Amino acid sequence: MSSPAEKFHAWAETLPKWHGLLQVSPDRAYAHAEEDYDNQYGVTAMEAEDGDGLCRLLQTHQVDTTGPALEIGCGTGYLTFGLARHYPGPDFLITDPSQAFLRLTQRHVGNGEYPARRHFAVLNADDLGQLPPEMFSVIAMRSTLHHILGVEAFIAACARTLRPGGALVMGAEPCEYGYVLMGALGQTIAPVLQAAGVELLPIWKKQLGTFVDTIKFYCRRDLDKATAEDKHLFNPHELGELGATYGLQLKFFPNATFGDFAPPFQPEFVSFTVFFLNYLKYCMLFDAEFLKHIQRHLKPQLKYIDDCYRSHVGPAITGVFLLKKTPVASAS
Ligand SMILES: C[S@@+](CC[C@H](N)C(=O)[O-])C[C@H]1O[C@@H](n2cnc3c(N)ncnc32)[C@H](O)[C@@H]1O
Repeated sequence: MSSPAEKFHAWAETLPKWHGLLQVSPDRAYAHAEEDYDNQYGVTAMEAEDGDGLCRLLQTHQVDTTGPALEIGCGTGYLTFGLARHYPGPDFLITDPSQAFLRLTQRHVGNGEYPARRHFAVLNADDLGQLPPEMFSVIAMRSTLHHILGVEAFIAACARTLRPGGALVMGAEPCEYGYVLMGALGQTIAPVLQAAGVELLPIWKKQLGTFVDTIKFYCRRDLDKATAEDKHLFNPHELGELGATYGLQLKFFPNATFGDFAPPFQPEFVSFTVFFLNYLKYCMLFDAEFLKHIQRHLKPQLKYIDDCYRSHVGPAITGVFLLKKTPVASAS
């Protein structure tokens, strides 16, 4: 019987090559300029912390890492950088539907000597059903699930291509209740600032409208999201039930990032207030003056939420999802 690595290489050999990349799906550009992605999200340098933390999490939960790892939606390589350094298995297939993102990640990951051989492929998660069964020990992704149109089909395809004892691990996914809370607070910003005598600039009004409408769009499930880049919000209990349907058992870590599981084991999440203000700054591009008014005049509302969660983690706005496939029972 062939080893997991031999099985993977035999399959990779069958794939067409396109501009030096393995090709499972046609190239599809991201909705925004790929080169600007890191700047918008305030990423100043690639760090290995997230990939290191993810690998430590796998170890803690006894996930099998003897087979290849697959990363879906690598973007500019934020998670890839550390996974390439720390994944202990034989091979690491790094993928994205966008060739431009793959080129940036190739550059960021570099040519260092790490345990796993690196391979790059153009892959759209909607085509995951084309991957051979029981091929990968680990499927990793960061901030990608909410871009995938058919979440149930995707989870089913992951379960099929995972080896027993392997896991699908996803971080930085938006959670429904935390996001709807942010949207509801967003609805109060204009009346609260106006009551405090702050004159709202036209650009601020426009940005506020975009913010609250965007969250409502993500939350709703009665809309066609086929052409939208960001699509969904998630409920951990629903992902747990969906995983269980396909033989995957969920462990959810509310508001955790992969980096939290690496030294110095310091949670990145500070409070709802900090997350909310950072979201407005980096994702919604609110300027410093607007943020200053929000921070000052919404202080009672923000403090109320932070006070509710003084001694436990919440509200869940994001988090890490670990869905482990049942290992094969050992013969006794
Ligand atoms: C928000 S970015 C995250 C990038 C990177 N993982 C990170 O953490 O910075 C979302 C990524 O998902 C990819 N993506 C979007 N739709 C996808 C799909 N249907 N299948 C696979 N990847 C997808 C995008 O090209 C992009 O790289």
